Amino acid sequence: MSDAPENPDISPEAVDAAVDAALAAIAAAGDTAALKAARSAHTAEGSALARLNARMRDVAPADKAAFGKLVGQARGRVNQALAAREEELAAAETAAKLEAERIDITAVAPRGRVGARHPISLLQEEIAQIFVGMGWEIAEGPELEHEWYNFDALNFDEDHPARQMQDTFFIEPVDRHLVMRTHTSPVQVRSMLEREVPLYVLCPGRAYRTDEFDATHLPAFTQFEGIVVDKGITMAHLKGTLDHAAKVLFGPEAKTRFRANYFPFTEPSAELDLWHPTFAGGARWIEWGGCGMINPNVLRAAGIDPEEYSGFAFGMGVERTLMFRSDVQDMRDMAEGDVRFSEQFGMVV
Ligand code: DAH
Repeated sequence: MSDAPENPDISPEAVDAAVDAALAAIAAAGDTAALKAARSAHTAEGSALARLNARMRDVAPADKAAFGKLVGQARGRVNQALAAREEELAAAETAAKLEAERIDITAVAPRGRVGARHPISLLQEEIAQIFVGMGWEIAEGPELEHEWYNFDALNFDEDHPARQMQDTFFIEPVDRHLVMRTHTSPVQVRSMLEREVPLYVLCPGRAYRTDEFDATHLPAFTQFEGIVVDKGITMAHLKGTLDHAAKVLFGPEAKTRFRANYFPFTEPSAELDLWHPTFAGGARWIEWGGCGMINPNVLRAAGIDPEEYSGFAFGMGVERTLMFRSDVQDMRDMAEGDVRFSEQFGMVV
């Protein structure tokens, strides 16, 4: 609202005062809304300048030209100041808006971790591929297993130490004779019962034992079991097969050797050593697993005539293999599920 008097004096002072008031209000306007208010207070109908202009009719004809010029110039100055301030405020408001909406295009966007496949899964698949490449089949069996498959059919005596409580997770009620399988060997028996001979089968999978959780033991671990039943199979076939797998996994200089041992399900049985040419501490022999010719009692338990067929079997731990293949010091790293451990083995998917 203008506080201009109804009939202001027509004098250069009055015009200057109106202009000064208008310019002060324009300069004080902090944003385009305030400027709009200043514009209507100082130039619109009812403002001091508008009233002075309206007094033209009262001015003597001789003074009309001079007065008209005075008021016209005053209005010109005010309009100029309005336009300049408007431009200034619009520029400032645009700049403020741009600043407020600024986007840092170099900022790293938050995104979900991609994750990595577990090295045990990768190695298990790599091993499976070696045997699939030789025309073998892959078989799986249950981890909760009947004692008959886990022990009896594999020729374990009634009082074999592996049956005792310190090794095996027995499932209650015990008279149901269910155990967490202590090895993948029961899949040998299942394969022989379910498939036709000749048989070339690799059985990777989890096994369970009441072991401590420490740098070299896990109560839940992974094995792979190989089994072949055919006519005329000898230990030379076993040796050739294992040497081939060793070379694929550990390089052309790798090889295997057998040391006499005992397993109830094989006869003869051997401890299997691997010549590891690139072992972190220097090339050396490392205990890798067990193997042997399938015991005739096991063939018979699976309904195969040992007079007609013979076979070999072997079993290795995947965690152990990963340890000396990739120089992992502590097996617990494989069980704890920290993705940073898996990432070290690459993002292979
Ligand atoms: N089942 C044995 C274990 O868990 C490993 C093993 C040894 C498997 C000899 C075999 C074999 O097939 O012939 O320790």
